[in-house]
Amino acid sequence: MCGIVGILGTHEVAPILVEALRRLEYRGYDSAGIATVNDGVLDRRRAVGKLVNLSDLLVHEPLAGKSGIGHTRWATHGAPSTVNAHPHQSGPVAVVHNGIIENFRELRAELAGYGLTPSSETDTETVAMLAQHYLSEGCSPIEAANRTLDRLHGAFALVFLFQGEGDLMVAARKGSPLAIGHGDGEMYVGSDAIALAPLTDRITYLDEGDRAVITRSSVEIRDAEGRLANRAMKQIHMDAARIDKAGYKHFMAKEIAEQPTVLADALRGYLEDDRISLPGEELDFTKVERLTLVACGTAFYACLTAKYWFEQLARMPVEVDVASEFRYREPPITPGTVALFVSQSGETADTLAALRYCRDKADKIVSVVNVAESSIARESDLALPIHAGVEVGVASTKAFTCQLNVLLLLALKAAVDRGHMTQEALSETLSALRALPGILNAAMARSDDIERVARQIAEARDVLFLGRGLMYPLALEGALKLKEISYIHAEAYASGELKHGPIALIDKTVPVVVLAPRDALFDKSVSNMQEVMARGGKVLLITDAAGAAEAGQDVWQTIVLPAVPSVLSPLLYAIPAQLLAYHTAIAKGTDVDQPRNLAKSVTVE
Ligand code: G6P
Repeated sequence: MCGIVGILGTHEVAPILVEALRRLEYRGYDSAGIATVNDGVLDRRRAVGKLVNLSDLLVHEPLAGKSGIGHTRWATHGAPSTVNAHPHQSGPVAVVHNGIIENFRELRAELAGYGLTPSSETDTETVAMLAQHYLSEGCSPIEAANRTLDRLHGAFALVFLFQGEGDLMVAARKGSPLAIGHGDGEMYVGSDAIALAPLTDRITYLDEGDRAVITRSSVEIRDAEGRLANRAMKQIHMDAARIDKAGYKHFMAKEIAEQPTVLADALRGYLEDDRISLPGEELDFTKVERLTLVACGTAFYACLTAKYWFEQLARMPVEVDVASEFRYREPPITPGTVALFVSQSGETADTLAALRYCRDKADKIVSVVNVAESSIARESDLALPIHAGVEVGVASTKAFTCQLNVLLLLALKAAVDRGHMTQEALSETLSALRALPGILNAAMARSDDIERVARQIAEARDVLFLGRGLMYPLALEGALKLKEISYIHAEAYASGELKHGPIALIDKTVPVVVLAPRDALFDKSVSNMQEVMARGGKVLLITDAAGAAEAGQDVWQTIVLPAVPSVLSPLLYAIPAQLLAYHTAIAKGTDVDQPRNLAKSVTVE
């Protein structure tokens, strides 16, 4: 996936394009480029690495023009290099692309027959070449773009810009989101509304299969069948905090610190006195026989946590899977199934495809999302916002706890609906939940202790995470956070599984992080911890005061958190897991907010 932007402006567009790309860097950041039309002449600048390299290049080699397109890349076809960076240009056509052109090899072979050879390894360049070919056959730019689009297989968002056409962009959406922004005498197009936020709050989202012909004064949208389509223009309220670190060194640090506040806000959106009230349509869990939870990455671990909650609190059968496996398993969806998709971005390609697989099979499609205007939200019967606010750090932190929050509220509602929880018990849990933001703040105060341990963890080559019950998904999330941003190899296991293989890895060089509040499973976790320590393993125990007192002498390091009701422990234990990864990454000097090879939103399979 990548970020794309296009502007038909009234001022010089190069700096505005770069600024918009900055807001899209979460989609990829291995190279970037822009192309403009100036006095009819199409030209481009591209640079490998972060966007700052493109900005530097533009200082030395400026690019004039009031119309232009831009791109920030996450490599799929071809290594990150200047030659593979977008925009791709073939003669009088430049394109920026997000997605994958699946039939680009066949198209390349065909184009070779016309004497057109690519200069990059990308699938995208084929699109520009094909459009050039159609232009050479006498097509107008719009016809050339349409004929090109007709030939493409795969998932893409594309914007075309043409030499000699300073007032024209052609945009197309098939499988990757695209938003058109309306300005005063200007028009914009972008991968999302956030990219366009400083320019306009008037947005039209293209639907699946739509194509748009854009000029400064008009937008003509046609649907997949070529019929003129009327897509609503919406006023979007953007969170201006997006590119502001608010004094923190990293977005990740800011977003970890924001968790108490955003959780408190999110709760307000779901609670009416002591009743859980879902925004939008109500969901009656007495009619639900089975829940299918699907997501990717961190959102998947939120789902795994929710499985424990739904099963234990609401006695509800729950299936949970990563989206990329779920969709190709083609699981039977029985009547009475609600399919629930969790996604921060709401654009993850695998999750969206899994949702579409369930569309006509499940009784209801519910999503838990952070971006209200996202594809996943828009294609759901009921979209539940997590209210995390914009998350910039590639490693998800506040979105995770806010996803957990909404999933817990859903499980509690299911428990009450299905008669497995009294109103009194619900009120008690809700008051504990209302007190949680304060407790999270107390957990943040452990940051210095965690930083001290993290300096030693930073020396390790491998780290293991262990947890039981609700702490097992947390262990998985802790390991994921650590490997994502510190590049230390980290694995998580259900504590009880240790003896079935992973224990072979234990020696004094492998720190073992044990997440174990003093709950019903604590004694079992202590036994597993003893197994580690008996083999010379170094245990970092994250627990509460009672757990610390009972854990014994041989624990290498202990981080003590406040005690909370067991059901809330995942929300609390996420904080030290995140801080441990953060401080370890700082100790190692890695790029915390934009770790290598990753992207925040993955819109390719
Ligand atoms: C990417 C991100 C992860 C995220 C996952 C799912 O891999 O790097 O942090 O958890 O996608 O993203 P979503 O937006 O669907 O929650």
